[in-house]
Amino acid sequence: MSTHNECQPPCDEAASPQQPSRRRFLQSAAAAATIGAAPHLRAQTQTPAAPPAPTREPVPPRPVTLTINGRAYTLQLEPRVTLLDALREYAGLMGTKKGCDRGQCGACTVLADGRRINACLTLAVMHEGENITTVEGLATPAALSPLQRAFIGHDAFQCGYCTPGQLCSATALLTEFRNGTASTVTADVRSRPAQLSDDEIRERMSGNICRCGAYGNIVAAIRAVHDGGVQTGARSSVHDGGTGGVGIGGNGNSGGNGSGNSGGNSGGSGDSSNRNATLGHA
Ligand code: FES
Ligand code: FES
Repeated sequence: MSTHNECQPPCDEAASPQQPSRRRFLQSAAAAATIGAAPHLRAQTQTPAAPPAPTREPVPPRPVTLTINGRAYTLQLEPRVTLLDALREYAGLMGTKKGCDRGQCGACTVLADGRRINACLTLAVMHEGENITTVEGLATPAALSPLQRAFIGHDAFQCGYCTPGQLCSATALLTEFRNGTASTVTADVRSRPAQLSDDEIRERMSGNICRCGAYGNIVAAIRAVHDGGVQTGARSSVHDGGTGGVGIGGNGNSGGNGSGNSGGNSGGSGDSSNRNATLGHA
């Protein structure tokens, strides 16, 4: 007696034409998949190979002579080195700060022939023959500059990271104003601005960002120097490390400011930290 397990030939192949076997179904499905994919596979194989990336010969460093704070520095620089990196990494002048490295914060502001520029946005080789002034060059060996003293006296910084750029920018601002340069808030740009109002100061300093929000005190410090309200002499020696002088805050707190963002501490405690910030040592 025959049983289901003894079916010869296999049951799969013995199915009737109206009931396609499992094997035929799988064969048909595989063939359809191959035909469907063929154009795509052909397109893939016909894509031309990407050309090799062009190679450039490296430009070797060459000597570049920069006059920084009155001293000549001959540095071995590749042409792509920014002025900011040349100052910090090659000349060893760390007072100029790198904030954004893309021209947005002003921390890297230095003076080139008295004109304020963002050192991160310009190449060092472009400044051969110019006099570069950094925050280290604002003070003389004997004394801080009036602006540096005013920044200390008005608590115009907290962490001090933006301060070198603020000081260089403010130094140029006062010169620009004395020379009669108008700004976008000057009422009549065809004539000298009548007075250095707080709006004028704010506008002219708008390229220098302070994350600590010390803006109100920065404006006050600049105004004090412009108005002649900063005393000279006294406790301003760069090297004495002493105390007293032009209203130096003793505890390093910022006090208030115009933006309402005072909040934090300067991270220092008194004169030495204040002096370091204005000398670019923050
Ligand atoms: S570091 Fe140059 S503008 Fe910010
Ligand atoms: S960022 Fe301006 S004092 Fe801190």
